Amino acid sequence: MDRVLAGRPAKGTMLLGLRGVGKTVLLNRLRDLAGRQGYRTVRIEAPEGEALPELLVPELRRTIYALDLRRAAGGRLRRAAGVLVNFARAFKVRMGDLEFSVDLAPGEADTGRLEQDLPRLLIAVAEAAAERETAVGLFIDEVQYLSNEELAAVIVACHEIAQRNLPLLFIGAGLPQIAALSGKAKSYAERLFDFPQVGRLRRDDARQALTKPASAEGASFDDAALEALLDATQCYPYFIQEWGFHVWNAAPASPITRDMVHAATPHVIAHLDNNFFRVRFDQLTPLEQKYLRAMAELDPGPILTGRVATILGTRASSVATVRQRLINKGMVWSQRHGETAFTVPLFGAFMKRQMPELLKHTPNRRT
Ligand SMILES: Nc1ncnc2c1ncn2[C@@H]1O[C@H](COP(=O)(O)OP(=O)(O)O)[C@@H](O)[C@H]1O
Ligand SMILES: [Mg+2]
Repeated sequence: MDRVLAGRPAKGTMLLGLRGVGKTVLLNRLRDLAGRQGYRTVRIEAPEGEALPELLVPELRRTIYALDLRRAAGGRLRRAAGVLVNFARAFKVRMGDLEFSVDLAPGEADTGRLEQDLPRLLIAVAEAAAERETAVGLFIDEVQYLSNEELAAVIVACHEIAQRNLPLLFIGAGLPQIAALSGKAKSYAERLFDFPQVGRLRRDDARQALTKPASAEGASFDDAALEALLDATQCYPYFIQEWGFHVWNAAPASPITRDMVHAATPHVIAHLDNNFFRVRFDQLTPLEQKYLRAMAELDPGPILTGRVATILGTRASSVATVRQRLINKGMVWSQRHGETAFTVPLFGAFMKRQMPELLKHTPNRRT
């Protein structure tokens, strides 16, 4: 962040990890840090199905206002505002008025092709930030939901901004497949970003995540209770949160014992099944559910894509489409060629509870 503020080149960052490991928490924390350093920050969450310009325009409008803070608009800023107006028009995004004079920027960011227009727009905003001697932080969560075209446009924009040494820092977060998606969109993506992996906590850190807040309330866990919690949660932050919450509420006294953990565990699992897991399960077609259920047979352990098909009683080519749909929905990803993995930790065990029976797949015969 300091490098960008000082006008030096710096790589962007894509935080990669499964669901519930703390990517969003980290992204928000980084945004706070950037804000405290003087960055103007833009944060959006790529939604399934909605278009990126729709989300970016109001945020960048806000940024342009923030850059104008208590000073007459500079030339670059008026120009950025003009480019934003073009962009909004080209992508049919409705935008409120800007209350300072806007320099028209004919031909800038108005082709209607995102891969050309988004870089022009972000360059104009970054130039305005440079004029103000500050920097822009662009934070995008759930990057895997960007369309191929949108992801390519973001990468091209970052590339052109880096080449011009402009003060815009990109930080994204999403499911592990975005590393491959980025590389596919633009081969130079790997040089443009760092891809730190966010995973489960180390056992010691997981222990602290439980003991610190408890001791602040004058309570403690005995060692066996902690071990039971680390095993049940597999040290995934979100599960630590849920188990910790339920065990805390159910425990009659301190120190919290292993028996108390075991007594609370069925309630935690029921709660997760009915909420965290269920919302994902309910968005799936019966065939997608069957596919995930077959995957669960091989979980834990490498889930070979070919073997999933065998378990379903069919060939890999017959279920390639459903697998791809599950990837697009962010339910599974391909860790290695020929392998398929869940993006939600402990999802395999849930699938077995939810669908005790394994069903075969009989593709419809076309006549
Ligand atoms: N560093 C951490 N230590 C302990 N718990 C955490 C940590 N980061 C996240 N969590 C817990 O995990 C939950 C999920 O985090 P989140 O950032 O939403 O995950 P992701 O975006 O990777 O799906 C948080 O609401 C919080 O309860
Ligand atoms: Mg998240």
